[in-house]
Amino acid sequence: MTTHSRTLPTRQLLWISDIHLDQAQDEEKRRFFDKLETSRCDALLITGDITTAINLARDLGKISRAAGSTPVMFVLGNHDYFGSSFEMVDREVAELCGRHQNLIPLGYGEIIQLSPQTALIGHRGWFDGQAGAGARTRVGSADRYHIDDFKNLNKAQYFQKLRDLGVQSADYFRRVLPAALQQFETVLLATHVPPCTQALRHQGSYCQWERQPFFSNRAAGNAIIGISRTRSFASRQVIVYSGHSHCYSRFQSDNVEIRVAGAQPGFPALNGLQTIH
Ligand SMILES: [Fe+2]
Ligand SMILES: [Fe+2]
Repeated sequence: MTTHSRTLPTRQLLWISDIHLDQAQDEEKRRFFDKLETSRCDALLITGDITTAINLARDLGKISRAAGSTPVMFVLGNHDYFGSSFEMVDREVAELCGRHQNLIPLGYGEIIQLSPQTALIGHRGWFDGQAGAGARTRVGSADRYHIDDFKNLNKAQYFQKLRDLGVQSADYFRRVLPAALQQFETVLLATHVPPCTQALRHQGSYCQWERQPFFSNRAAGNAIIGISRTRSFASRQVIVYSGHSHCYSRFQSDNVEIRVAGAQPGFPALNGLQTIH
């Protein structure tokens, strides 16, 4: 995959994550869309878990319309595939983005220049099953029963698939992140699953060893931190925007900062404006 650049001048970036619209009552959804319509921002960034597959085209379409002419850059989360497969959802979203000019899916080689100093890249990522107890965990994952690609896999095959998904995202960041860091002082990186366990919290406390395989993308974390620490990029800054754990967290490792959005399913919210320099 080759990288390609585009420019979307952005001073105020509105970050949204894990809104899980399928779990919200009509009143909460109305409140969310009212806030979205009246928010003053130059672009939106969504880091996944918008809804479930059957509702995705409708809900993303509603977000697109509420945003008006404001660009909506997004990655999907694991819940967005619930009830379908990777291929079906990705195809449906590609068709939708063809009809809604302000919808910009991340993960196709794009480096989006937000200011002369700052660019945005992104890839959905996935939890890669490698952190904490790994494949020996006794905790299960709902994804295995809700996403077609996982349904007929035994536990060993499922964890191999998770590992492959993590490696895919790591390979993507190995191609795109250095190209972005060569050109920009700050690179914002959007991905659904937090890329390291240090940024993980669960229900207000630490994330248990047994749960960590399903809440962190270690392969992507190794790639992101490894690239950012190389001497040629030591003066650059990478800010990761992620979600999935629903528990707010910030973690800094040298020139990489990892931000994890808090979220309360049933109560979709805007995570706040980020000022781009
Ligand atoms: Fe979520
Ligand atoms: Fe998630």
